[in-house]
Parts: sequence; C-alpha cells; structure tokens
Amino acid sequence: MNVFTRQWSGLLSAVSTDMAIDLGTANTLVYVKGKGIVLNEPTIVAINKKTGQLVAVGNDAKVMLGRTPAHIEVVRPLVDGVISDFEVTEEMLAYLIGKVRSEMKTLVAPRVLIGVPSGITNVEMRAAHDAAKNAGARDVFLIEEPMAAAIGAKLPIGKSVGSMIVDIGGGTTDIAIISLNGLVVSKNLRIAGDHLNASIVSYIKDQFKVHVGEKTAEDAKIALTAITNTQTGGKDLVVRGRDVVTGLPREVVITDSDVRDAVAGHIDTIVENVRAALEVTPPEVLADIMQRGIHLSGGGALIPGLASLLEHALAVPVIVVPDPLRAVIRGAGIVVEDLDVYSEILLDHEASFQTHF
Ligand SMILES: Nc1ncnc2c1ncn2[C@@H]1O[C@H](COP(=O)(O)OP(=O)(O)OP(=O)(O)O)[C@@H](O)[C@H]1O
Ligand SMILES: [Mg+2]
Repeated sequence: MNVFTRQWSGLLSAVSTDMAIDLGTANTLVYVKGKGIVLNEPTIVAINKKTGQLVAVGNDAKVMLGRTPAHIEVVRPLVDGVISDFEVTEEMLAYLIGKVRSEMKTLVAPRVLIGVPSGITNVEMRAAHDAAKNAGARDVFLIEEPMAAAIGAKLPIGKSVGSMIVDIGGGTTDIAIISLNGLVVSKNLRIAGDHLNASIVSYIKDQFKVHVGEKTAEDAKIALTAITNTQTGGKDLVVRGRDVVTGLPREVVITDSDVRDAVAGHIDTIVENVRAALEVTPPEVLADIMQRGIHLSGGGALIPGLASLLEHALAVPVIVVPDPLRAVIRGAGIVVEDLDVYSEILLDHEASFQTHF
C-alpha cells in the first residue's frame, strides 16, 4: 500500500462503519463498531419467487414458515455452517449492511468482518467473502468462529498457554485449541443443535407414529434434554403433530428419557470428537487444558447436562462461557473495534484464495 492509498483508506475508515456479522446456521448477529450488538435474529429469509425480491428477514420471516402463499418461499440460506444458497445469503447480507448504513447515515460502504467455521474449504471461504463483497462491503475480513468465541470468552489467545473452546451451534460444532494467536488443533464437525432437533423428529415418528415440526422438536430439546441420569426428573411434555397413519392431528406425551434416547448418538459423536482432539494435542498444551478446562460456547452449550457429561467422559473441567449464544459476535466485535491489532488472527484470505491446479 503506498502512502496515498494508506491515507485514503484511513480517511475512509474514519467516515465509514466497520461491522461484524456472525452468520450462523440458526442465528445471525450483527455488531457495529462503537455501538455494540444491533441485531440478533434467526437466519431465515422469505423470498418472492416471482420477482426474486426479499420479502422478510429474521423473525419476520420465521413467523411466515409454513404459512406462505405459493409464490413466497421461506429459506434457511446456510446449511451446516456454510452458505448453501449463495444468492439468498447475498440478499440477506445486503439487507443487513443496508440497514446498518441507513441507520448510521454513512455514505461510505462499511468494512465487514464475517465469522466462518474453522477448516472450511477455500471455495466456502470465497463464497462468504464474495457474498459480503457483492452485498456492498467495501472490504471483507474473515475470522474463524472458534477464535472469535475464544476472544468473546476472554480466553488468553495471544499467550503461550493452551485454551480449548468447543462451539456447538445449530449446524456445526467447532472444536479448537488455541495458543499464541493460532489454532493448534481444530476440527469442524457438521453435527450440532439442529441435528439433535432432526433426530427428535424422527424418534417421535418411529416411536409414536406422529410427525412433529422442527420447532416442536427444538422446544422438546430445550425443555427435556437431560443427558445424565442424575438429572432426570421424570419430566414430560405434550407435543402435537400429524398422525402418520390417519393424517389427522394427534397429541402425545414424551418424556426426558425419549429425548435422551433420540439425541444420544449425536451427543456421543460430539464427545468422541472432543476426545479425539485432546488425543492429538501436544502434551504441554494438554497440561494447560487439564488445568484450565474446556470452554463451551454456542447454543448447544446450554443443553442441560452436556457440560457435566463431557467433564465425566474426559476427566477435564468443563466451563460454559457467559452468554454462550453471543460469544462469537462479542469476540468478532472486539476484533472489529481494533482491526489493525488483530490482523494476525484473521484468515489471510488473499493467500487462502490462491487456487492450486
Ligand atoms: N437453552 C437451550 N438448550 C439447548 N439448545 C439450545 C438452547 N438455546 C439454543 N439452543 C440451540 O442452539 C442452536 C443455535 O445455536 P447458535 O446460535 O450458537 O448457532 P449458530 O451460530 O446459528 O450455528 P452455527 O455456528 O453452527 O452455524 C440451535 O440448534 C438451538 O436449538
Ligand atoms: Mg455459531
């Protein structure tokens, strides 16, 4: 960068807005530099199929689920943590960036920091980068979500001491061990909260012959998941769905042990992957983690009993970070307040985007 472009970009950042977006499979959060978290809504978009125009975003789109006329489609543009519907994601980002710009009354396009799962492919990284760029970002920076979560949880990422973060979101579980501003070990598992919902739907269908919606399954998960036996309170819940034989509405009572059976396989997978990450961790770093514990973030950290299950299975203390659903955006916000200071930990997108033939 020559002197002129450096001064020019310094001038632009003085008049434009920097913002961070945690574009999650389940929830999207936006942080604006100097203002804090300004938006926290489900990652759902309603599109008019005739015109291709965006009809609603977030909560407004969520209430339309299952209730739309034929020409309106309600979509979740992310699957398993990565963009599956590029055009819709771009429209959603354009809406978010536009909203921030009009509220902040800035004429210059913002610089945008986007959280992405660790270990995504170059193609997936480029998709996130291009979507934000096409959506009106002046400059795009990417940060690995577990890194952002660790910063949000105030873990000492820059020190020569190992910190472990497990971020269980809607679509992905990011398992990462961080030391000296880098990921020492990382694993991105495409099993998380939303997969638990799906297995509750299929369990109720198999056991009770009733087809319930995903929202009902999520409510049951939040109300009833009690993973360890000591926590079972014999709780139950009435759920409503469609009888698969008669096609008519039917109510059934499910218990916490039903939910536990439904999610057991996925929970085992998460535990085994955390164990596998510890098994490949260098001994010094492992010693740090044994002492300092494993930090859980993301909505999945709130699954009752999960922290103690992990603690017993792995013999390592497990700590749920404060306000786990917002750890990634808090961390991304800290970075966006001081992009120059944190440049070392951002994904080097120019280098990563080189294509190898
Ligand atoms: N109290 C709770 N108990 C259990 N699960 C919960 C609770 N609250 C939220 N969840 C689950 O957390 C998940 C959403 O978490 P989060 O917002 O961290 O995901 P995300 O960032 O959108 O997804 P990802 O990071 O995988 O792309 C959903 O599956 C939701 O059902
Ligand atoms: Mg997330």
